[in-house]
Amino acid sequence: MDFEETFTSPNETLTLNFTMDSGIPGYSMSYNGIEIITPSELGVVFSEVDMSEGLILDAYEISAYDETWSQPWGEQKEIRDHHKQVKFYLTKNVTGEKMNLTFRLFDEGLGFRYAWPEQKGLQDFVISDEVTEFNLAGNHTSWWIGAYQLNRYEHLFNETRVSEIDTVHTPLTMKTDDGLHLSIHEAALTDFASMTIANNGHNTLEADLVPWNNGDKVRGSAPHISPWRTIALGKTAGDLMTNYITLNLNEPSKLEDTSWLETGKYTGIWWDMHLGTKTWGSGPDHGATTEYTKELMDFTAKHGFYGVLVEGWNTGWDGDWAANSDIFSFTETYPDFDIQEVTRYADSLGVKLIGHHETSTGISNYEAQVEDAFDLYNEVGVEAVKTGYVGDFVEGGEWHHGQFMVRHYRDIVRKAAEHKIMLNVHEPIKDTGIRRTWPNMMTREGARGQEYNAWSVDGGNPPSYTTIVPFTRGLVSPFDYTPGVFNLLLTDKPENPNNNRVMHTLAKELALYVVIYSPFQMISDLPRNLEAQPVALEWVKAVPTDWETTIVPEAEIGDHVVVVRKDRNSNDWFLGGITNEEAREFEIELDFLEAGKIYEAHIWADGDEADWETNPYPLERTTQELTSETILELDLAKGGGVAIRFAEMD
Ligand code: NOJ
Repeated sequence: MDFEETFTSPNETLTLNFTMDSGIPGYSMSYNGIEIITPSELGVVFSEVDMSEGLILDAYEISAYDETWSQPWGEQKEIRDHHKQVKFYLTKNVTGEKMNLTFRLFDEGLGFRYAWPEQKGLQDFVISDEVTEFNLAGNHTSWWIGAYQLNRYEHLFNETRVSEIDTVHTPLTMKTDDGLHLSIHEAALTDFASMTIANNGHNTLEADLVPWNNGDKVRGSAPHISPWRTIALGKTAGDLMTNYITLNLNEPSKLEDTSWLETGKYTGIWWDMHLGTKTWGSGPDHGATTEYTKELMDFTAKHGFYGVLVEGWNTGWDGDWAANSDIFSFTETYPDFDIQEVTRYADSLGVKLIGHHETSTGISNYEAQVEDAFDLYNEVGVEAVKTGYVGDFVEGGEWHHGQFMVRHYRDIVRKAAEHKIMLNVHEPIKDTGIRRTWPNMMTREGARGQEYNAWSVDGGNPPSYTTIVPFTRGLVSPFDYTPGVFNLLLTDKPENPNNNRVMHTLAKELALYVVIYSPFQMISDLPRNLEAQPVALEWVKAVPTDWETTIVPEAEIGDHVVVVRKDRNSNDWFLGGITNEEAREFEIELDFLEAGKIYEAHIWADGDEADWETNPYPLERTTQELTSETILELDLAKGGGVAIRFAEMD
């Protein structure tokens, strides 16, 4: 061994052992004395030079950091960034290339990244391989979706032992046989390939970078940095949900003025198209007409929501739009959609038009128009835009998740910020926490959303799906899942050969507004279906989209989760609890409520005989006075849920 040293996190919960063994850097890690990562190698191979071996450790530096910062909006307002940093300076023997390896040790996880300072030898480089290993101490239970398949991240999650995975996307979430939870992911993916995780045999995992279409993994020029490789840790599944190391490992906000950022709930000319009652393209069933938009705006204003998303307003949707990405215009409207008139009307009602750019992965077509497109939105007062990237391969064969697209997504976020536009990205790159740096990056899709309930050939998202999402895709939040379908059996759908439906109860649909965090939450269903369920609609009107804090009192991945969040703008607390196919009862301690105060709990629960499969609609609305000392009993039906507002009483 050339070198070996142990470092600990601020409260010594996490221990990192760093080694240099015959010129190869390596690490292992333990958490509360329990081994998590066994000796694992580190390094990166360039086409020009192999920086995974023959390395000399020149020096290392230790520093400490403890600061609390605020999110302009979010699931948690104040976030403490408390870590110890160790930076290793490495040099390649003989040829002398330099590489730094920085570790940040938090009590709840580890982050590390490579950096290549400015140097002659790496002026224009190509990374051909990253050899970072994550050798696990056990064959944990894991939840994952496979990498290198069509449909991007839109798959049901698999639950297997780690030894059974092949190559998977991150976050890769795991539970040890002792009940610890961990998740491997990355933070601050800005100009690099996405990291997927490949199995090297049994419990040994390795970083696998999504290549360019010629096989290069990363192209760059020193100085350059990799994203942080992260391992979040928690005793419970809920701890993972409130683990903020990903955000802490991103740069602070580049936006000096964040006062223009807003959160809110929105309706849309959207579900219609997914059901098949209207079309994106022109014709008799065209959804995005001036008239229908105004109707939606009336509904939106009446109930006090933020705005109306309108898809299919711009030319290019006729024919097979997914295959004709080059014909989309982002400034030319269909003749029956008067953008000036609908935005004037929106203004008069105090609501917003939410813009839409479906690129269908025609990246050069979009990039050529995006400035004009944002200018148009600036001109008519559109402040939030949903973008879309339907397609599997981009511009001549690039993966959706390679460096080409990472760069594109980042570039659009920056351009949107310059135009004071908030983004909601569908078919996005996975979230690695860049909303800290660019807080106009509000929300995104990046998993199977509600739309799969409308048309997926497997009939929709099974009841367990939403009990896995918060611990996988949802860990890095926010997710534009688009809840708010009240007509669960989709009786509006003209044809329904696969018996598509929403596979849970109405109470569970309501609970999703708390369980799945997003600063923009959709109310997806058609206005007539929403108004047909006034009790449910009352909850949707009440639930906030911006939170002071988040607590997870109960969670078991794939089974159930209960999330509690405090409103950022009042003293009210909100609870969302959901279960999979099984009925469950919970006793929840309310010690999060302010001691000595009386609260009125407004409860939307599964009603008598509710059952996701046979009887999804019964919803029971009750109230109950309680205090922080009350133990609250929750009773969830099969595939059910519960939604509660705790309103402080005077
Ligand atoms: C897929 C998106 O997820 C969906 O929300 C959108 O309606 C379509 N693409 C069309 O852009």
